[in-house]
Amino acid sequence: GGVRYEAESASLSAGGTVDSNHAGFSGTGFANGANAVGSYVEWQVTGPASALTFGYANGTSAARPVDVAIDGAVVATGVAFPPTGAWTAWSTVPKPLSLTAGPHTVRLTATTADGPANLDYLDVSP
Ligand code: GCU
Repeated sequence: GGVRYEAESASLSAGGTVDSNHAGFSGTGFANGANAVGSYVEWQVTGPASALTFGYANGTSAARPVDVAIDGAVVATGVAFPPTGAWTAWSTVPKPLSLTAGPHTVRLTATTADGPANLDYLDVSP
């Protein structure tokens, strides 16, 4: 099994909040990033890993794309977080991204003015 890093323990860029008003999330809440280009959520995690899975909800009708950076280097661009049907409908975006052993940062940065989806957790899988 992997390790879950809750988004309520992540670092948020200015304007981001930890909310709990849409039921069904893991842990005690979720990260509601600011609705802006460049809005980010960053986790501090420990490798090794071969897959990263992001839990999220997107109650709008448009995807909320992000760039994924590991230790400050972008490793995936325009990763879509598609609509989930409601802010209370939670889904996952799995990515086959690897981490070496030891500490790393994983940052999702919104590339549209809508900001990121509501982010629930990052699962780090060996
Ligand atoms: C609504 C919703 C928020 C969400 C926001 C958004 O306000 O309640 O949880 O973050 O839309 O569009 O990002």
